Amino acid sequence: MKISTIQKKQIVGITGLAMVGFVLAHLSGNFLIFKGPEAFNAYAKFLHDLGGLLWVMRIGILGSFLLHIFFTIQLVIANKKARNARYYKYKNHRSSSSLATQLMPLTGTIIFIYIIFHLLDFTLAEKVGVIEGIDYGLFGLVVNVLGNPIHAAFYIIAMICVGLHMFHAFQSVFQTLGIMSERNQHQITMASQLLGIAITLGFSSIPVYILFNF
Ligand code: HEM
Repeated sequence: MKISTIQKKQIVGITGLAMVGFVLAHLSGNFLIFKGPEAFNAYAKFLHDLGGLLWVMRIGILGSFLLHIFFTIQLVIANKKARNARYYKYKNHRSSSSLATQLMPLTGTIIFIYIIFHLLDFTLAEKVGVIEGIDYGLFGLVVNVLGNPIHAAFYIIAMICVGLHMFHAFQSVFQTLGIMSERNQHQITMASQLLGIAITLGFSSIPVYILFNF
């Protein structure tokens, strides 16, 4: 079965939207860190107790992640080939797209690397986090990992990349799906940019809070 370019773009967009949903849910759950160890660990336990349903969600998010990357790479390669063919005509043409758009491949790659380290930090690690002689489980683990300034800085850089990626990507989905019109273009672009900024500030507030309070 041959998948057309527009279908590939639609798959990239829809899987991207699914991941935005996950990221927003993850951020709201992570905010429980501000409430303390009991609230945060209870939330993590609730997720783990979902058992089979948790695995369905995990497979869904992993599938979205892989499809998103696979088709994005295909589209980038096809785009490069098409651009090379037009090279003479547009030799002096300079890209007028925004910085966030131009940085999409870089921010996407950094997010990919970040996810691997992130899973090793928390999901695949033993949920032990000793603070002043007491084991606070997953809460303590997050505090100990992000209490390291180098580790925290790496997280904040990754959060800036996640925000920048969404700054452009969210409105791009509406364009791909043909939902964007001249009438709503401004609102959708603003919503996309606000979402990007809120994601960066929201996630970064966690390592900053930990650095200053523990
Ligand atoms: C300060 C920022 C963040 C903190 C403190 C944080 C914390 C955590 C923790 C504690 C877990 C393990 C949960 C568990 O095993 O019970 C986790 C899992 C995960 N996080 Fe994050 N996270 C952050 C940002 C992000 C971002 C920005 C993304 C995506 C771009 C992300 C994607 C994931 C994924 C995919 C998992 C695995 C989920 C699962 O195992 O079901 N996280 N995170």
